[in-house]
Amino acid sequence: MPAFGEPVAKTLAFTDDVKAKTDHLYPRVAKVIPEVEWPLHAPYIAAINDLKREKNAVILAHNYMTPEIFNCVGDFAGDSLQLAKEAAQTDAEVIVQAGVHFMAETSKILCPDKTVLIPDMSAGCSLAASISGADVRLLKQKYPGTPVVTYVNTTADVKAETDICCTSSNAVEVVEHICEEWDTDQVIFIPDQYLARNVAAMTKMKLITWAGACEVHERFTAQDIRELREGTPGVIVLAHPECPPDVLAEADFAGSTSGMSNYVKKNQPNNVVLITECSMSDNVALENPNVNFVRPCNLCPHMKRITLNGILRSLQTMEHKVEIAPEIADKARQAIQLMIDLPLQRQSMYTHQYAPEVMVVEARV
Ligand code: 13P
Ligand code: SF4
Repeated sequence: MPAFGEPVAKTLAFTDDVKAKTDHLYPRVAKVIPEVEWPLHAPYIAAINDLKREKNAVILAHNYMTPEIFNCVGDFAGDSLQLAKEAAQTDAEVIVQAGVHFMAETSKILCPDKTVLIPDMSAGCSLAASISGADVRLLKQKYPGTPVVTYVNTTADVKAETDICCTSSNAVEVVEHICEEWDTDQVIFIPDQYLARNVAAMTKMKLITWAGACEVHERFTAQDIRELREGTPGVIVLAHPECPPDVLAEADFAGSTSGMSNYVKKNQPNNVVLITECSMSDNVALENPNVNFVRPCNLCPHMKRITLNGILRSLQTMEHKVEIAPEIADKARQAIQLMIDLPLQRQSMYTHQYAPEVMVVEARV
């Protein structure tokens, strides 16, 4: 099998057949992919879409995927919560996760009988890497009787030690729900210390968290936002809640990747900046042609490991299969399913209403 990054065939040619199969797709990405580059993508897109039909496969594409993946081969697109819900519902026999490894694990946990493929096994996440199942067991010993809320950006081992999962689009509601169920005002909320602080500013509950962080969002600063506003007066600033709280304090709105996308669709600002991963702006810009996107952003190196070439290779070779030990998957499924089944009325908003009560466990206990 070719190594990561090598083409499947020498170069796939932009033949008349490829052109006929893909001409209708180019308008979806024309605003962000120059016409001269399209013949490089189109043969892979045609081959992937043919193979999906042949193998009864679907591609779940996270909002951070590059536009040619997101718009031309993705069957379902969205934030972590939406992709988990799609995985739970699909009739396809094969799921290709165009996202990072924890997302593919979530799909496998929810669909144990399906084949779940990830094009690159090293597409990780700094949050998922920050904590292990053993760490959670020690936390539970240290704070007995305290419910554990785990961000989905974690491994299956960590989810298996968890009472309920959350994503950034439902974190506030999940914390309040579990505190009510357990009749407590304190939760273990792991592993993102910044998301924890941002959630804590929206609830009266006390959060015990972990010193994890997203390597992409922790790099943004409040000063970045002030400079952006000076550079483009009137620009609307939207930030992901994995950013530090002082960044959110400077933003006009904070929400999950889909929360930000919905904000742009609804409000149609003249100028907007998305304080998040770079491909988000391309994908949201394509849906909102009248909005101007100011473009400072940070790349997620893990998300960017997923390429058209890798997706094609994955479907051709049926590699890399995501496997999880049944006893881990069964426990993790309960925590994810509890989250999916919650009748939530709205997406979490992060407008900093309370003085946050957060305690960060700095080192492994
Ligand atoms: P969302 O759930 O908002 O899509 O976030 C996933 C993620 O990895 C953000 O960095
Ligand atoms: Fe993980 Fe951050 Fe990349 Fe999202 S953007 S996958 S949280 S490292």
